[in-house]
Amino acid sequence: MARSGHTPSRRGWPAQAKPSGGASLTLPLRHPRARRVSVQEVADVKDAARSVWALGDYDAMMRAEGLYEVGARLVRRLGVAAGERVVDVACGTGNATLPAAQAGARVTGVDLSPAMLEGARTRAERAGVAVEWVEGDAEDLPLPDGHADVVLSTFGCMFAPRHEVVADELARVLAPGGRIGLCAWTPDGVFGDFFRTVAGYLPPDPEFVDPPLGWGDEGRVAELFEGTDVTLGFARETWEIAHPSVEAAVACYVDNLGPVVQARTLAEADGRWPALQAELSELFAAQTADDGRVVFPAEYVVITGQRR
Ligand SMILES: C[S@@+](CC[C@H](N)C(=O)[O-])C[C@H]1O[C@@H](n2cnc3c(N)ncnc32)[C@H](O)[C@@H]1O
Repeated sequence: MARSGHTPSRRGWPAQAKPSGGASLTLPLRHPRARRVSVQEVADVKDAARSVWALGDYDAMMRAEGLYEVGARLVRRLGVAAGERVVDVACGTGNATLPAAQAGARVTGVDLSPAMLEGARTRAERAGVAVEWVEGDAEDLPLPDGHADVVLSTFGCMFAPRHEVVADELARVLAPGGRIGLCAWTPDGVFGDFFRTVAGYLPPDPEFVDPPLGWGDEGRVAELFEGTDVTLGFARETWEIAHPSVEAAVACYVDNLGPVVQARTLAEADGRWPALQAELSELFAAQTADDGRVVFPAEYVVITGQRR
């Protein structure tokens, strides 16, 4: 993915907007469980997410950490088959999208960020697979009711702001009997600490934004799907992350992962970069092996489900 020359706004992890106190309050009609929030506040958060996820080089980070294997694992676990209609929500550069297409499914990859979709297109072309790429919002999927045999999201819908709205959307686009497969980082472990550290260098989210790591908590996810006709199952998996050194680990994120690039840029502007660098270095130093490499198991929840 091409680096963006965009200057990040002062918005938080992963998408942040200052409370506007805006006038026009709305309850999305299709989502009766959504909390009251102004249209403008929601739009600001989505705009910020588009900008933030365009920063850095997400594909470079994914390749460095071998994380594209997680999408392939999920597609195998779900048994995605040729001809099935699959939707990958917040697909990014196509982590789960490409393996689903390689299994012969008819796949739609949806993401808010045009920059991410550009990276996804490039990867799909190189892999020689056909995918329909759609710029769209996990909270308002541009797909008809009951469209999908399989709905996937790896570390994707956890970053949309209102988790109940997203859960309702995932359930809505799923056909009767359809399967769901989602991966989300757990709040425990190194990535939990990592997310909390970075968040300390970003402005706080508005109150209506749910914390991304909520999708990594099985109890919370069960609540999110209450009232839908999706029955859930949970498993935990790990992916071993390895970097040649503490410096390489820090650089991998501050150069490539949009919200962390944003945190670094803001920290540089207000003199907090040495502190952020020190905190991240300390975090990864605690994961250093005898040979100096940083190696740690990154734990994630695998949420599977089926619509009645
Ligand atoms: C950590 S990346 C995960 C991408 C990909 N699924 C993967 O496994 O690599 C998070 C993605 O969520 C997307 N995103 C954030 N908010 C979104 C929203 N409201 N609707 C759709 N996509 C969103 C971002 O643009 C980004 O591509």
